[in-house]
Order: sequence, then C-alpha cells, then structure tokens
Amino acid sequence: MAAGGLSFRNITALAPMVRVGTLPMRLLALDYGADVVYCEELIDIKMAQCRRVVNDELETVDFVAPDDRVMFRTCERERHRVVFQMGTADPDRALTVAQLVEKDVAAIDVNMGCPKEYSTKGGMGAALLSEPDKIEAILRKLVTGVSIPVTCKIRILPSLEESVALVQRIEKTGVAAVAVHGRFKDERPRHPVHCDYIEAVCRAVSVPIIANGGSLDLVKTHADIEEFRKATGASSVMLGRAAMWNASVFSSRGPLPVETVMEEYLRYAIRYDNHTFNTKYCLCQMLRDKVESPLGKQVQAAQTNAEISEAYGLQHFYQQTQDQLRAKRDALPGGGGTETERPVLDGDVTTMAVKFERREYPPHITPKMFLLEWSRKEKADQPLYRTEQRAQDRAFQATVTAAGRKFRSSLWEKSKKFAEQAAAIVCLRVLGIPEGRIGEEDSGLVCKRKREGKANGAADEERSKKRHVADVQQETEASQATASGEQLRAASR
Ligand SMILES: Cc1cc2nc3c(=O)[nH]c(=O)nc-3n(C[C@H](O)[C@H](O)[C@H](O)COP(=O)(O)O)c2cc1C
Repeated sequence: MAAGGLSFRNITALAPMVRVGTLPMRLLALDYGADVVYCEELIDIKMAQCRRVVNDELETVDFVAPDDRVMFRTCERERHRVVFQMGTADPDRALTVAQLVEKDVAAIDVNMGCPKEYSTKGGMGAALLSEPDKIEAILRKLVTGVSIPVTCKIRILPSLEESVALVQRIEKTGVAAVAVHGRFKDERPRHPVHCDYIEAVCRAVSVPIIANGGSLDLVKTHADIEEFRKATGASSVMLGRAAMWNASVFSSRGPLPVETVMEEYLRYAIRYDNHTFNTKYCLCQMLRDKVESPLGKQVQAAQTNAEISEAYGLQHFYQQTQDQLRAKRDALPGGGGTETERPVLDGDVTTMAVKFERREYPPHITPKMFLLEWSRKEKADQPLYRTEQRAQDRAFQATVTAAGRKFRSSLWEKSKKFAEQAAAIVCLRVLGIPEGRIGEEDSGLVCKRKREGKANGAADEERSKKRHVADVQQETEASQATASGEQLRAASR
C-alpha cells in the first residue's frame, strides 16, 4: 500500500484501544492478518507538546513529551498501515497534531465515540456527536490540511434517521472512511450491537463504513468477521476486544493458543522496549480469567520486562535482545550518548541529562542503594534528596546532596522516585562510583543490602502484588483502562 493511499474498503482493522493499541499489539495484529491498525487514542493537547525523535537504537520514531515520556512510538513496518487516533475538540490543535505525525502514519482518525464524562466535558469524544458543526470544522480542517486520509469513529445516535444524517454530513467533509460503533452513547460494552443501524448508514452513503462493536456476541473467530460484515452491509470490520483477548482472530489460518499469542506479543514488547506496566496490562487482558493462575500471578508480580520474560521462559531472548540493542547503541556515533550526557555546572549543582531506566538494573537494585552504601562506606553524610514538581505537566526533578556536593538530572521524570534515582545516577557517574547497572562489573557495594532486601522483600512484594492485582482486576472488569493522565482516563468507552 502506498503512503497516502491507504484504502478502507474490504479491510479488517484493529480498533483503537487505550493502553492496548501500543506498538507491540499493532505489529502482532499485522502479523496475524489485520490490514489496518489504529493506535490508542492520544489527546491533542498532550501530543501538541511532543517532539519527534528518531530512535536509532530501536529503529522507531518516538513522539516524546516534555517529561521525556514516549507518548507514541511507531516504526517503518507499520508506516503504511497505522492510523493515528486523536481525541480533540479543536480544529486548529487537531491540525497541529496531525501535521506533527503525518509523515510517520498512514491516516488520521478523530475519536467521536468516548461517552465518559471526563472526555465529553472537554468537548471531545461522544460530546462531538451533538455538535455536528464542530465535527465538520475539525474534519474539514484536517482533510484540507494533511496529505494522508482522514477518518473518524462514531457511535450511533438515538434514531436511525439521526445516525444516517450525521454520517451523510460527515461524508461531505471528504473523509476516507467512518468507523461506526453500533452502540448508543449510554450503552455499555456488554449490550448487544445494533447491526441494523450500521446497515442503514451503509445504505445511505458511499464512503466506506467500518463496522465495529461485534466482539462480545458476534465475532469470536476469523470466520465471524465476514458474518459481521455481511450482517451490517459494511465495507470493512474493526475489532476491539476480540483482538485484545487473542489477536490471532485476524488470522485466516485459524486461532492460535493464547499462550502462543502472549509469547509473540512479549517478543515485540521486549524488542521495542515497551513500558513494563503497559506490557503487563496487555498480557493480563489476554490472560482474562487466568489472571489468578500461577503464570498470571508471576506476570502481576513482575516489575521489569526481564521479570516478565522469565515468567514466559523468554529470558534468553530478552538477554539476546538487550545485547543486540546495547551493541547497536555503542556503534552509534558518540556511542549512543549525547552531548548533554556530559556534566554541566548549573549554579552550585552539577547536572547531566540522564534518565532512570528500570530495565537497565537488576531487580531489587537501584542507583540510590549504591549511593547510600557508598556514603556509608565512606562515612559520609547520608545522601539528601530534595524534589520539586512543576505545574505544567506535574513532572518531577530531584537534587541530591552527597559528598558535600549537589547533583541533579536536567531531565524531568514522571515520578518522584524516578527523579531521585536519576539524581543518584548523576552523582554516581560524576564521582565515578559503580551504579549497579546490568553488565557492570560487580563492585560488591550492595551485596549486604541486597540480602536484607530479600529478607524484607517478601512482605513488600506481597503488598505490591496485592495492589497490582486490585488494579488489574478493576481494569479487567471494566474491560478498559483507568490510569493517571487524560490519555489513560479516556479508556472507558
Ligand atoms: C481497553 C479498551 C480501550 C478502548 N480505547 C478506545 C480508544 O482509545 N478510542 C476509541 O475510539 N475507542 C476505544 N475503545 C472502544 C473500541 O475501539 C471499540 O469501539 C469497542 O471495544 C467495541 O468494539 P468491540 O466490540 O470489537 O470490542 C476501547 C475499548 C477497550 C476495550
């Protein structure tokens, strides 16, 4: 498929799903036979603050927030297949974001289906359904402002006539397709899908309609996809939950055991350095009622992608991938390091641009532990951390005082804990003290504490496991994501 020429006729698509529709799931869906994959909904205000970064190590393009969080990661493999879905209520902002990602994706979609108050309050999602003028303004702006196809995803309106009239109006904006989720705004995912509404819309317009909403009662196997298409008379079909539970539903060769699908998913998560929490979330959705099985418990207890890999017997693949990525990083100009990784004096504080990457350290080991042990050994004062939070994005930055000097990372972190770890790393690197990274020569610095950590660790681990199980259960029951931040809060549709 050529860039800009993505067709929405006779296709099967992975639906946009917050948290689920990140890069590993999208690539997996493509492997199994999906023609088009939608990313999770990303909110325009957040995306507009992102910068585009070419990640040579992972061979991805990342859209990175001011706090250095990767909001959207994509790669060449999906460039002509991925649809970027945004949450927006503002034509200008929508265009800014669309133009930011335009070269890296195949199409732009606007979410007009989220019925939750936090989304509708901002005028986004399903709130747009009662504002056809705004829908038109957003879509027209996008259609004329970008060179790739524009689509939108709606829910049905209270009557057939209203639903048809809305899609007819949308069609006139020049969109390339409309995904119709066959449920009313106030219906829950468990309610039956209204195929007759989708059918009425299909009959009234010539723009391709992508039928959506069949996962629970209609689409269980690959053959059911065609049945759903026929039942709605739609050009195409979009699958959400059926794909989330077992992405091999896209395969014409029949379903694969979910264990195989989870393993394939995890390989992509490792390869593309997917965020551990996101990896766990997706695996838990696939585990479904097995989330309390021994494997499920191991996944929930894991704190790193390395630990998740162990649960699936993929530790060798994990290590091999890490080695390959490290070798690639080292081969990059400047060894993958940047100018900003050199220490710079900012007043009386020595700063460096470093981030705390959990995956780079063994479980139970942190740079803060190394710094504390070193201070004890040197009979120096205990390291003292001072953290500040900035208002605009609630990111954290910490300064540590150790060895009579102050150290800070110039990069902001999403949590206080990570900010302190980053400050500790700066201190350790500047002073030339081992920091406990995987692959670093064993300094013996934290052996004692590690043992203590293990003794106390059981209780801590149990507590954190319980917390996580509660989180996951809540999320699984809701079948949707609920985490901090607008993007994650926008999960319940
Ligand atoms: C976990 C989850 C997250 C979702 N996130 C989004 C989203 O980001 N954008 C969107 O338009 N719909 C979202 N939805 C709704 C789905 O795209 C889809 O419309 C819905 O699940 C019905 O399709 P299905 O029956 O195939 O699951 C989400 C659904 C689920 C289960």
